Amino acid sequence: MKKFTKMATLGIVALCLTANVTQAQVKLNTDNIDEVISQMTLEEKVHMVIGCGMAMGDGVKFPGTAGRTYDIPRLGIPSAYLADGPHRLAMSTRRDFDSRFYYTTEFPSATTVAATFDPEAAFQVGAALGEELKDYGLDVLLAPGVNLMRNSLCGRNHEYYSEDPLVTGKIAAGYIRGVQSNQIGTCIKHFAVNNQETNRNNNDSRLNQRPLRELYLKCFEIAIKEAKPWSVMTAYNKVNGKYTCEDIDLTENILRGEWGYEGVVMSDWNAGKDAVTAMIAGNDMLQPGQERQYNAILTAVKDGTLDEAILNRNVRRVLEFVVKSRSFSGYKYANETDLKAHAEVDRRVGAEGIVLLDNHNTLPFAATAKNVAIYGTTSYDMVPAGMGFGSTGFGYYHVSMVEGLRNAGYTVDAALVRQYKKHLADEQKRLFPNGRPPFSLTPPARAEEFIPSTEELAAQVAANDIAILTLGRTSGEASDRRVAEFYLKDNETALIKAVSKAYHAAEKKVVVILNICSPVETASWRESVDAVLCAFQPGQEVGNSITDVLTGKVNPSGKLPMTFAMKYGDAASDANFPYDYEFRMPSFAMGSGMNFKSKEKVEKPKAPERNVDFTDYEEGIYVGYRYFDTFNKEVAYPFGHGLSYTKFEYSVESSNINGDLCEVKVNVRNMGDRAGKEAVQIYVEAPRGGLDKPIKELKAFGKTSLLQPGESQTLLLTWNVMDMASFNDKTDTWELAKGEYKWMVAASSADIRCTVTQKVVKARKDKANDAMKPQVVIKELVAKK
Ligand code: BGC
Repeated sequence: MKKFTKMATLGIVALCLTANVTQAQVKLNTDNIDEVISQMTLEEKVHMVIGCGMAMGDGVKFPGTAGRTYDIPRLGIPSAYLADGPHRLAMSTRRDFDSRFYYTTEFPSATTVAATFDPEAAFQVGAALGEELKDYGLDVLLAPGVNLMRNSLCGRNHEYYSEDPLVTGKIAAGYIRGVQSNQIGTCIKHFAVNNQETNRNNNDSRLNQRPLRELYLKCFEIAIKEAKPWSVMTAYNKVNGKYTCEDIDLTENILRGEWGYEGVVMSDWNAGKDAVTAMIAGNDMLQPGQERQYNAILTAVKDGTLDEAILNRNVRRVLEFVVKSRSFSGYKYANETDLKAHAEVDRRVGAEGIVLLDNHNTLPFAATAKNVAIYGTTSYDMVPAGMGFGSTGFGYYHVSMVEGLRNAGYTVDAALVRQYKKHLADEQKRLFPNGRPPFSLTPPARAEEFIPSTEELAAQVAANDIAILTLGRTSGEASDRRVAEFYLKDNETALIKAVSKAYHAAEKKVVVILNICSPVETASWRESVDAVLCAFQPGQEVGNSITDVLTGKVNPSGKLPMTFAMKYGDAASDANFPYDYEFRMPSFAMGSGMNFKSKEKVEKPKAPERNVDFTDYEEGIYVGYRYFDTFNKEVAYPFGHGLSYTKFEYSVESSNINGDLCEVKVNVRNMGDRAGKEAVQIYVEAPRGGLDKPIKELKAFGKTSLLQPGESQTLLLTWNVMDMASFNDKTDTWELAKGEYKWMVAASSADIRCTVTQKVVKARKDKANDAMKPQVVIKELVAKK
């Protein structure tokens, strides 16, 4: 026994000695990162710049999340855990051998958030999302997505904010601040010029430096400078011939050099081809990490083609990111979150993002309206959000129009509900004979509409005070919408026609609700209905948010963050978009030489295919309203448009340029008889004579608080004088022309309420890097003759 004890004691001493050696070894802290790196083996360093795979399969900590950073317990380095957004913490609801549900809230889509025109609303969504990550033990939300809505058919538009870089940048900044107020990181994505999903892993966005700087980088620049996201995610695509994750101009020269960004940069999941070039480019971390990348980096350091100092630099940036995380500080998370409070945020912001497009004395519902007939399959199967990794599909719940209206005390036509219930069940069987897929990147097919018979309609008209009809559109990651999805299907048009005819004959009204990912055609049918509400995708409370606006509980204050064109083909970018591309395989399989389904070799196209292998941005700076307004093109609904149940009057109290700061004080008075909020927009028209310029560009916007009838509020709207400059790609300078600038105070891009002029007395030029030049000639649209 004694001997054993002695032996045991010796053993303990030996253990302590080992422990002492280990303890003597440095453990990661905020101020010893270089020392920690000096203790790493080369292999460990390479692991640190590569992810650990997606959280799938057995034994992962957070099933269904996007991944994590490498951990080295010996050096006190934990993993930081990454999960997708933007509108939901994307994590599996169920876990193996675990009886409970891990629900997360489906918040309004990014587009809906942008339509609030209120960075504070974006903050609230971000703050609630950040809280969910914190409560469930995650560290970083892979959001926001701030790519510009270059074209209305882009499959991921629902994850993005606007066709305008200022709205995008400001709303993103609010969201980032909200998430990060929880000591949870964000990852702004997809940097940059990722504006289509077709062949997304290989498409080359080819454009001149001016639109690159003024539009596609600007939205990132605004959000990054203002809100300092912890991380940036480069994109899948190439820009002017180089993969974004392998382009030193993008990440080192512009992002870090010009903008002073200090955080980490990671690749999109499995993006790019050459891991070593990515390392040199300052794309610090490759996610979710592949063995071939590990081998390539290790070999390159060993054979001297990659300087170890570069690897150390990237490891340092990854560690600076890790030490900020809650995982690093050992946070004890609750593993449950306040779903009720977050549902309220969703309902409130979801309603604020609803845009009243048209209203002919119809909304809000009359006090006498009690019985509502609900049409359209989408009313019964609403679209809370879009598809993709950061999407719906894991399902908590979502509120239908039936539920929303019933919650508000309305009686919905029960016979119609029964009819739709049966119809939807039949459609499910037809569309998914083997059951509906639990998750897919691209949207599963949606039910076709049916038209009630004339007799049925007559009975419904007699029994109800008003009709509502919802049209739905959803899109997702890895594929774009086709032109046909911009237009209404024949049976949708027929349904609108039949319902309107029947209700109008009895002098009753019809309201159309658009529960959509991106614009649809409205010009051909909107006159036949009495009100049109664009709800975009307001999240899980969708039916409640819409009902709040229909009933007037919420006075609509959303404004369109993009233009609704009359038809596809009207926007200048339409010609250079894969609108008619025949879908052959999911985009992520393209370029791999494999047919995703059959695993057979697919013959590669002989010559690069336009709009698939490369896309030329020949519209230049003329995206969205910049094009429609400059070229005097008719639109269905202009950018910034949105009606209210009250009326606002604007007056300019003062305007001036103070040093670098432009400011306008706008007084907004509620002239109607209902409380409401108003989003005010300032557009600037530059003096003629310098570079070709759009007729107007948004330079500031702001939203009032809830103004009671008769109440007024003065908004102070500011911007920097150089925000009015243009990028001269001959000289690589931002140029501010001197002369008279028109400042237009507006309710939309087409509704200018007051104009003031301000003089810039001295021209100014700010030099930038000559970076990311196109390698082919891009013949650009110009307005000047
Ligand atoms: C998407 C990213 C996402 C990542 C991780 C990619 O397919 O493009 O937006 O964050 O997957 O899930």
